[in-house]
Amino acid sequence: MKTRIFLAMLASAAALGLATAPASAQTVKIGVINTMTGPQSNIGVNNDMGMRLYMKLNEDKLPPGVKVELVVRDDGGANPDKAKQLAQELIVRDKVQILTGFGITSNAMSVAPLTAETRVPMAIMNAAASVITTRSPYVARFSFTLWQSSYPLGQWAAKKYKRAYIAVTDYAPGHDCEEAFEKGFREGGGEIVGKTRMPLVTLDFVPYMQRAKDAKPEVLFAFVPAGRFALQIIKAYGDVGLDKAGIKFIGPGDITTDEELPAMGDVPIGVTTVHHYSAAADRPANKAFVAAWKKEYGDKIGPSFMGVGGWDAMDAIYYAIREQKGKIDPDRTMELWKNYKNPNSPRGPISIDPETRDIVQNEYLREVRKVGGQTANVELEIVGTAVKDPWKEFNKKK
Ligand code: DHB
Repeated sequence: MKTRIFLAMLASAAALGLATAPASAQTVKIGVINTMTGPQSNIGVNNDMGMRLYMKLNEDKLPPGVKVELVVRDDGGANPDKAKQLAQELIVRDKVQILTGFGITSNAMSVAPLTAETRVPMAIMNAAASVITTRSPYVARFSFTLWQSSYPLGQWAAKKYKRAYIAVTDYAPGHDCEEAFEKGFREGGGEIVGKTRMPLVTLDFVPYMQRAKDAKPEVLFAFVPAGRFALQIIKAYGDVGLDKAGIKFIGPGDITTDEELPAMGDVPIGVTTVHHYSAAADRPANKAFVAAWKKEYGDKIGPSFMGVGGWDAMDAIYYAIREQKGKIDPDRTMELWKNYKNPNSPRGPISIDPETRDIVQNEYLREVRKVGGQTANVELEIVGTAVKDPWKEFNKKK
């Protein structure tokens, strides 16, 4: 649906007293758009589990008498038109006061401009291409950017290796990884010996791994979205024998995402990544989070960075509700989010950069190791403290 038609719909809804009717102070309506089905359902499912766990354990953080109502919609995967249509319905018909979820960049990109037109605050739980937050002043991100992990990883890798090959999924998050890693690696004196971009629909990474092997790099840097893609690229790395050829595998933490590790077997042992969250981290806040998750959901699917994205975004939403005693004003909500801080997230201290509305957090160097008979992303060191999105730092208006 074209924006013009949508605005006309809004105007007529307003004339009928629909869209502008003051929301009850007692119930805050939150629209959740996420990927709950299809090959990327791991994102929505894990975001959702983190979000609901937060809500269950933190009812007392809402003002007395104030309730939260979720209106959940499934975008089914990368489908910007569908995500936009769902957002329009949630805003006009369901009159949600806040939008959240957003696992996939292309979907978040199509919804962001609507939030500027309608002044509905949007809290991103996962989508990670740097550019998204520049598309509307009503967007804040509580997840991560791929520049935050891939740029420091490039700098780290240049100290150990001279020749790297880059393989990324061919959409905005992959392009960010490619650019960020290449910048960090080249600045450190490294050489890129080859590159490939892989279509978002493919789960067969064997031809790409073969190409990487033929280029004879010392190290392969790869990004694919977490979930089934990550499982398949790790398998292909092993099947094509890059490990036996002595080619080290590195990437942002998406490629060894915690919830897929049990299905990956021993292949990823030794894979080095940079990321903002590991389920194996021994911070007390993380230990409490993982224990609460296991108590609620059992051992079948552990928490991942997406679970924490859901948890932290919900904490920021509850904070905005609390500070406004349940009466959501869009501009006040954005002011509160711009100044949001949590020294004690499961991932460590986090805050929002008031200038960009993007997350500020630590980045950890991790290696997949066996811990107590199971593989885990073991944090080795902090490679960046309170890291702002590097892409925005490098592209600041002078
Ligand atoms: C995005 C999706 C992912 O599954 C992931 O691991 C990273 C980024 C995205 O579309 O923004």
